[in-house]
Amino acid sequence: MNVLVTGGAGFIGSHIVDRLIDEGHNVVIIDNMVTGQADLINPQATFYQEDICNAFRVEEIVKMHEIEVISHQAAQLDVRKSVEDPAFDAEVNIIGTINIFEAARKHGVKKVVFASSGGAIYGDTDQMPTPEGHPEQPISPYGVAKLVMEKYAHFYHVQYGLEYTAMRYANVYGPRQNAHGEAGVVAIFTDRMLAGQQCYVNGDGENTRDFVYVDDVVSANMAALTGDLVGPYNVATEKQTSVNQVFDTINAISGANQERVHREGKAGEQRHSCLSVAKLKQDADWSPTIDIQEGMKRTVEYFKSKN
Ligand SMILES: NC(=O)c1ccc[n+]([C@@H]2O[C@H](COP(=O)([O-])OP(=O)(O)OC[C@H]3O[C@@H](n4cnc5c(N)ncnc54)[C@H](O)[C@@H]3O)[C@@H](O)[C@H]2O)c1
Repeated sequence: MNVLVTGGAGFIGSHIVDRLIDEGHNVVIIDNMVTGQADLINPQATFYQEDICNAFRVEEIVKMHEIEVISHQAAQLDVRKSVEDPAFDAEVNIIGTINIFEAARKHGVKKVVFASSGGAIYGDTDQMPTPEGHPEQPISPYGVAKLVMEKYAHFYHVQYGLEYTAMRYANVYGPRQNAHGEAGVVAIFTDRMLAGQQCYVNGDGENTRDFVYVDDVVSANMAALTGDLVGPYNVATEKQTSVNQVFDTINAISGANQERVHREGKAGEQRHSCLSVAKLKQDADWSPTIDIQEGMKRTVEYFKSKN
């Protein structure tokens, strides 16, 4: 297949690109390199340093390479920035995504699989693990935009027959995650511990997240890109891990031996998040295969090899 991966120089996108190439597909990448890492770009892919906000170029690339399927991972993913500048967030995450859908429907693309967000879409909830049918209550412009992307995808499906899968990721972690900027706690702790810098746990550290290893996220994406899943699907583990447990596990694996130091918690932060994967299990026979201990071991190994 001819596959376009937007954000293919980023953490999750670059892993998807590698798997697609390993399985014999032709891959084209669009990435503006705002958080992308040049050394992650697979040399066997055709790379365009372009912005998804440039509708003309997106369309030109889709047409020229006769793209059949799109994996859309590019996004403005800084939640705080989305609060400070919702118009910019909407420009990238909503208008940029519409550019992808427009190029797709005009040039015969069969399907768009895109990165949505479980945590950001459901907001605070007592129903855990949270299923896809749970009411959506996003509490940030970033979450609103992810939900709006899903609504547009549904529109393109009904109006033009464009197939889509919205992958509602939990907290993805693993090798290649950028440890700076809007990174996940696993990458930040791993990077700092290996550099001998103190890590800080915000608040009491008993807040939990559902951490899913990037290889499992890639296999869920492969099931969506090559199968017939339509609609929203959680990609998660159904397990809750506290920030304290993340700290203790990385501390032990890396041999950093730090004292756990707490500082003031962040206002408005979600207390717990855990997503149901029953739907993806049933429709694609998908289950997470890497537990948190093994995933963090691999992540620490990666960060060590980089330094
Ligand atoms: N990492 C997580 O835990 C997580 C959780 C939920 C959803 N997501 C979603 O997964 C996707 C991938 O995230 P990631 O963690 O790999 O982040 P990342 O920053 O490593 O990757 C995003 C990539 O998109 C590129 N990009 C950003 N804006 C662009 C634009 N306007 N035009 C072209 N390229 C652009 C960046 O340069 C980068 O390479 C995003 O859509 C994100 O919202 C991630």
